[in-house]
Amino acid sequence: MTKLSVNINKIATLRNARNENYPNLLKTAQDILSFGAQGITVHPRPDERHVRYSDVYELKKNINSELNIEGNPIKKFIDLVNDVKPDQVTLVPDSEHAITSNSGWDTITNFSYLNDIIKEFKSNSIRVSIFIDPNINMVEGAKKLNADRIELFTGPFAKEFDLNRSEAVKNYVKCSKIANEINIDINAGHDLNHHNLLFFSESVKNIKEVSIGHALITESLYLGLETTIKTYLDILK
Ligand code: PXP
Repeated sequence: MTKLSVNINKIATLRNARNENYPNLLKTAQDILSFGAQGITVHPRPDERHVRYSDVYELKKNINSELNIEGNPIKKFIDLVNDVKPDQVTLVPDSEHAITSNSGWDTITNFSYLNDIIKEFKSNSIRVSIFIDPNINMVEGAKKLNADRIELFTGPFAKEFDLNRSEAVKNYVKCSKIANEINIDINAGHDLNHHNLLFFSESVKNIKEVSIGHALITESLYLGLETTIKTYLDILK
């Protein structure tokens, strides 16, 4: 079964709007898990505009389920991850002021840079996932890097979904076949929502985990967090 890891950056953004502890990020994460989500994802950015580095320590101390920390492996991020030792780190090549992640790693040209970082995380028993575009060369590159997983960047899929869903998913299916053959696990994330997730998860086999934030939090404004999470879990069953 594909696990749902909820990205709680949007909750932190809401909290930061008033600079008080409301909504309480930790309590929301605990509720999300009690509603059935199997994991929590955080993406602390260098300017800490949503999740703060201190939040990550608090989450690690107080939640028992899977914690995934995403981000660009600048020194501050590497130190945080090695210190917190989450279940999983997802390496993302986002530039400092990017609104959100907008492309995956080139696992070939960045081989030696990523290789050292991945070795270090793995020596600390942290599972490593690499965020990549749906390109089979990038999947093979991730395998050569000895990454445990790839996270397929689903933004392009989501953009094309309403126009031509079978075309939109084509490269993801190819990547998942290769990944399954060469034995690297698959995560997926970005712009997934209750409308496009079923088709994606039926088309792309053996996805271990999806990380979903923006749409899930937005939908929960109407349905509530509990119902929204249950809707996603039903889709993933
Ligand atoms: N995966 C990565 C690498 C991301 O950067 C994000 C957004 O922070 C997500 C998944 C989740 O994307 P969304 O918020 O669109 O669900």
